Amino acid sequence: MSTQPSVGQSISRLEGKLKVTGTAKYAGEYNVPDLLYGYVVNSTITKGKIVSIDTHIAKAIAGVIEVLTHENRPSLAWFDLQYTDMDAPPGVVFKPLYDDEIKYNGQPIALVVARDFETARYASTLVRFEYEEEPFETCLDNNLDKARDAGKGFATLLKPPPPKPTGDFEEAFENAEVKVESEYRHSAEHHNPIELFATTTVYEGDGKLTIYDKTQGTINDQVFIANVFGLHYKDVRVLAPFVGGAFGAGLRPQYQLFLCVMAALHLKRNVRVTLDRKQMFSFGHRPQNVQNLRFSTDMNGKLTAMGHSAISETSQFEDYSETLSQWSHKLYPAPNTLFEYKLVPLDVYTPIDMRAPGGSTAMHAIECTMDELAYKLAIDPLELRLRNYSETDPSSEKPYTGKALMECYLKAAEKFGWDKRTPEPGSMTRGNKLVGYGMATGIWDAYQFPARVEAIITKEGKLEVNNAVTDIGTGTLTVMTQIAADALGLPMEDVTFGYGDSAKPFSMFQGGSAMTSSTGVGIIMAAKALRKKLLEKAKKIKNSPLSEAGENDVIFKDGNIHLKNNPVVFVSFKAIIAFNKGQVIKTTEMGKPHLLKLRKYSLATHSASFVEVEIDKELKTITVTRAVTAVAAGRIINPKTARSQIAGSMVWGISKALHEETILDEKIGKYINTNLGEYHIPVHADINELEVIFADEKDELINELGVKGVGEIGLVAMPAAIANAIFHATGKRINKLPIHFDELL
Ligand code: MOS
Repeated sequence: MSTQPSVGQSISRLEGKLKVTGTAKYAGEYNVPDLLYGYVVNSTITKGKIVSIDTHIAKAIAGVIEVLTHENRPSLAWFDLQYTDMDAPPGVVFKPLYDDEIKYNGQPIALVVARDFETARYASTLVRFEYEEEPFETCLDNNLDKARDAGKGFATLLKPPPPKPTGDFEEAFENAEVKVESEYRHSAEHHNPIELFATTTVYEGDGKLTIYDKTQGTINDQVFIANVFGLHYKDVRVLAPFVGGAFGAGLRPQYQLFLCVMAALHLKRNVRVTLDRKQMFSFGHRPQNVQNLRFSTDMNGKLTAMGHSAISETSQFEDYSETLSQWSHKLYPAPNTLFEYKLVPLDVYTPIDMRAPGGSTAMHAIECTMDELAYKLAIDPLELRLRNYSETDPSSEKPYTGKALMECYLKAAEKFGWDKRTPEPGSMTRGNKLVGYGMATGIWDAYQFPARVEAIITKEGKLEVNNAVTDIGTGTLTVMTQIAADALGLPMEDVTFGYGDSAKPFSMFQGGSAMTSSTGVGIIMAAKALRKKLLEKAKKIKNSPLSEAGENDVIFKDGNIHLKNNPVVFVSFKAIIAFNKGQVIKTTEMGKPHLLKLRKYSLATHSASFVEVEIDKELKTITVTRAVTAVAAGRIINPKTARSQIAGSMVWGISKALHEETILDEKIGKYINTNLGEYHIPVHADINELEVIFADEKDELINELGVKGVGEIGLVAMPAAIANAIFHATGKRINKLPIHFDELL
């Protein structure tokens, strides 16, 4: 029986059994001998200086080994540049335990190291700090006058500033026949993957470290640690085979890694540092923002002007930026546009990408504004999108490599039953519930990063592929195994994918919905070179039946190279290995985007979400009863894991619209709901029917695999679709997320 292609098949996660049986080990679970445990002490003030530290009582506790602070820490790299990482925004990177300065509430200021976690945590409460407090600003609204342009740097290459205005926006908007102006607000949100951030550092001696870290980028960590602690990068090995969710929080090396390695080097011991749930709120977040939108149309609903001004918070030391304001023009044509994006530095930690950063926030505002226009025009909201549909990207006037958004709209609308919607707000009911239907469009980037992949035919004639990429729960291990298996015509059982290890060939951090395209194309390139090498060897075997065969005359199937026109003639991989004196056959190739060719195109994934809400007539409690999301993201390698990505991000969409928010008490400059009891995320009872549809988008231009990415696009349209459904049910526009029932009372 010959092997069938696995790409396109719904394959269950290969590591699924390990995960559900608790066998998969996470960063804080490697029980190496003589392990010490570190617990971090965080600042209780927001801004100022540490004037004194008393560690005597803490140190006197039995089992406490050391208390590290800025006063007694080992020496560190001096230059700010050495602390940078692949995802560092422009500015000066925050350095834990560097000096006496407090820059934000929750800043790590000491590490207590003890023989066990409980002792370290207890002793941490006994370290006494005296501070000199300074005035601080953490309120975005009070500081809008300080808004200024975002700085530019390496990490902002993928986040271009808004383009120049087109036409005459003010004039066009002023004189428009139909117009809407609205303000939107989003609170900060913190990533709360179930796995806490943790690092286990194994001190190997001779300046060598093996580090298990919760990270999205093993090589990003490795280079950072080598630079900061003056180690040779080859002596630092970072492993992250399993990552229990990350969502962007692990794009940068976080402080538990830094402190754990510092303690291990200082004490020459194995050390683990695990953050607790409260500490998960002390680094990186989705920034709060204020957006002002002004859209206008003619009487037929054709957009005439689009204005979108966004102001976001950042820290006082780094300029984290997102793409917020210009998304509408990648979807809808309009002759007059004005897009602005500004930052307000506040005394908070630097924000960090959170799933669909910018896109999910901006599209909420854009697609609610479109909904408002639809009501003003008395046009069906879907019809308004169709009247402004563009096959090309209006902002760059370039064609898309592929855009199956029309199919998304039509298929999802049909599946949802959008035609049963009666337009009048409050016109649909079910018992004591108001029913609302809402829809919205989604758009997200289609990135590809360089990725180096090693492909090996082992002594047993099987295939091994290697790349440093992580799998943060997305299904990367499974889809890479599928891609590799098909590339050599092997069953998946004969393929192993080595990943989550900085000792493997280069990968960027796992982010930007870019891993299937990045590592996937790397595999295609390495496999192509491997097929060539295998054939060359096969031809050299004495009396080889393939001696006359060219690359196009053969097929690779089930561990053999067959003659295409006479498949009974073949040479097996095992025979080639034997001929190769039992040595493995290996190739290493770089997969990279075709930047020159792609410059002529616009690249994006698209989606459309349709949502039904039920709202209790008296209590105004909101339930998303069902949602359909259709996604156009090129070829789908594994419909099962891809569906799981989209469904998961639809849940996040519900969370963003109705639940999730970090509340900052501006009087003390501190987040106050730093636990999963008060930081609300949906539970099973909040989630009902979720339907995922993939459009049949054949994108031959984008890359060798025709894939885009599905990690983030499923979230983008959901918040607006929910807010629009709430308006349809109640006639109330609530433009601040999350929307709570009391605002509807
Ligand atoms: Mo993601 S926010 O690209 O990890």
